[in-house]
Amino acid sequence: MKTFNIALIPGDGIGPEVVAEGVKILKAIESLDSEISFTFTEFSWGCEYYLENGRMMAEDGIERLRAFDAIYLGAVGYPGVPDHISLWDLLLRIRKEFDQYVNIRPITLLNPSLTPLKDKTEKEIDFLVIRENSEGEYAGAGDWLFKGKPEEVVLQTGVFSRKGTERIIRYAYEEARKSKRTLTSISKGNALNYSMVFWDEVFEEVGKEYPDVQTYSYLVDAASLYFVTEPERFEVVVTSNLFGDILTDIGAAITGGMGLATGANINPERNFPSMFEPVHGSAPDISGKGIANPIAAIWSVSQMMDFFGKEQWGATILATIKEILKEKESLTPDLGGTATTQELGDRIVEILCIQAAKEGVAPL
Ligand SMILES: NC(=O)c1ccc[n+]([C@@H]2O[C@H](COP(=O)([O-])OP(=O)(O)OC[C@H]3O[C@@H](n4cnc5c(N)ncnc54)[C@H](O)[C@@H]3O)[C@@H](O)[C@H]2O)c1
Repeated sequence: MKTFNIALIPGDGIGPEVVAEGVKILKAIESLDSEISFTFTEFSWGCEYYLENGRMMAEDGIERLRAFDAIYLGAVGYPGVPDHISLWDLLLRIRKEFDQYVNIRPITLLNPSLTPLKDKTEKEIDFLVIRENSEGEYAGAGDWLFKGKPEEVVLQTGVFSRKGTERIIRYAYEEARKSKRTLTSISKGNALNYSMVFWDEVFEEVGKEYPDVQTYSYLVDAASLYFVTEPERFEVVVTSNLFGDILTDIGAAITGGMGLATGANINPERNFPSMFEPVHGSAPDISGKGIANPIAAIWSVSQMMDFFGKEQWGATILATIKEILKEKESLTPDLGGTATTQELGDRIVEILCIQAAKEGVAPL
């Protein structure tokens, strides 16, 4: 029996609503598989905590998270707390302190009815974006000079270290090699004449060690176009922090929206806990209504199980999501259904049990 210790940070808005459904899935797995158990420790950090304590997480928060096997996060950010504070003092702090330098975001169409793209099916939209997650344009480097004066100047510096650039590109080459897929680098060397010229050079340099991997290189503007017009061009994609953030929202748009987009923040060396979260935010416009789509958060659980080396459970959760997407009436309103968050979560657990028995992962 292996016990995985999970830190829960449900966060703000719909975060707690969707994390509750992800925990249901983990508990279902625990009840179906005698070889796995989980412990859950919840931390009530986020914007409410900030309004009471003047900080987004406890002072020793990073230390308290350090020993966990994984962090499962809902979403952070809420009106009343500036977004740059909520993001930097919790989410980005955890990513940086725990060196979660790989952000894995699958762009996979799970049901043809979910894409707004005419004539595109599951076959044409199935790729993986590997986003640099520790530096680049989100390094937090810069300055704000002459604030409020006519000569005011702000600087936001993109930081691309050799170590940081090489390791993410190498990770992507390894993934492409392992899965026998092509690798596309997305950059902007024509306009960003230092950082992206360097990125392109490193992509070529590292590529010499991977002659078996077929590569492509696109400018981010052309890549944005292809995401919509020819998503079948992509298999594994590697890109910088900012470009990855933006491109994966296009990815979400072509695969069913924010309610279905997931992301894993990985420290591949496993020196620190990795973090699993839906890509969406706290959705203040629908929070408290019980209609948030929990599927992205549940897909994060699939990524977590893969990371724990329990790939069969990861695949079973994904197969379950595919099944539920065929039942329109069981879905939340963003996907055209009428179910509540909890009803959808409960139905997913039911299907998971059936699916697990079918695949021989666990008895019915
Ligand atoms: N990872 C994070 O924690 C994260 C990511 C993005 C935004 N944010 C924060 O969240 C807050 C709101 O940001 P936003 O409105 O730009 O983005 P958002 O993702 O919260 O919402 C965008 C739109 O998508 C819808 N949506 C999002 N998730 C959904 C779900 N699970 N089910 C159904 N509909 C869903 C929302 O209702 C909204 O219309 C801000 O404070 C922002 O900083 C946090």
